[in-house]
Amino acid sequence: MRTIKIGLLGLGTVGGGVVKLLQEHAAKIEQTTNVHFILKRVAVAHLNKPRKFSLPEETILTDQIDEVLNDPEIQIIVETMGTINRARQAIVQAIYNHKSVITANKDLLAIDGPKLAQLAKSRHVDFLYEASVAGGIPILRVLSSSLVTDQITRVSGIINGTANYILSAMVSDNLSYDKALMNAQQKGYAEANPVNDVKGIDAANKLSILSQFAFGKALDPTNLNVRGIDQLTSAQLASAKQFGYTIKLLAIAKRLSNRLYTSVGPTLVDNNDQLAQVNGVQNAIAIESNALGSSVYTGPGAGAKPTANSILSDLAAAANDILNYDCGNAFNNYHSELTPSTLNN
Ligand code: HSE
Repeated sequence: MRTIKIGLLGLGTVGGGVVKLLQEHAAKIEQTTNVHFILKRVAVAHLNKPRKFSLPEETILTDQIDEVLNDPEIQIIVETMGTINRARQAIVQAIYNHKSVITANKDLLAIDGPKLAQLAKSRHVDFLYEASVAGGIPILRVLSSSLVTDQITRVSGIINGTANYILSAMVSDNLSYDKALMNAQQKGYAEANPVNDVKGIDAANKLSILSQFAFGKALDPTNLNVRGIDQLTSAQLASAKQFGYTIKLLAIAKRLSNRLYTSVGPTLVDNNDQLAQVNGVQNAIAIESNALGSSVYTGPGAGAKPTANSILSDLAAAANDILNYDCGNAFNNYHSELTPSTLNN
């Protein structure tokens, strides 16, 4: 069995989830990947911050990120810090140091995903981010593999778990907006700054990533028409219900001829539509394509476990590529192939 050493950046909700799943499922992971993963170093901002779980005995905790990025034994870096600039710098350094990188950092990916993917490709390492969109749904793999011969015409979905949780709780449990948001924060669904969740920014960033895979077009999330759910009232939600509709925060990208139309905002969804039935922290992504027609993918969209689980599936994929590469085979994972000239917006 091959041993692969990992470095982890950040030990918050998602980073902690990765550590826990690695420990809880160590035997199964070894059995299915034929790799013994060692979490060699973890970088955190505050060494003495109390934590609800313990690290493996062999793991070195440090507040010096360079110790992780420059460790020659570490082959895979898992980035869960969640900032943009520091994460970008760390990822670039890791790739230059010939390490594969796994991240869930949608804020960064929405801006620089294609460039970082290109850099990783040129250095023959993986850059994987399945956990960045709809944590519990392997949607990027779906878009980049099974639909590779198909032409996608529309992607729409509920891709912010916090917003969907808040809207569902306001309708079904009669909770106030503030109470529902507080619950989402306590459950670890919301971003460190929940403004991104409730103002639609997180959904716009994720739509940008989905678009890279679905249409080969990187959208600039700051140029999108984005509205949040923070101005919605319980009365509006109740009124929609009376007329047979549910209000959902929908992100939509639609191809019409060679143009791409996008929107992110609260949308009336007919109660008979599958997306209207998606409640709580669940996400759903509906895809329309020429060959498949309509397909809908649902699953948990936020929270430590689903997100960490997606990271672990990327970890298994990156390890597989490392083993293959050592045997002289090419890196073979999903990635977005951008052909920006195909669409104008
Ligand atoms: N805050 C995000 C959400 C986390 O609620 O969807 C998962 O990306």
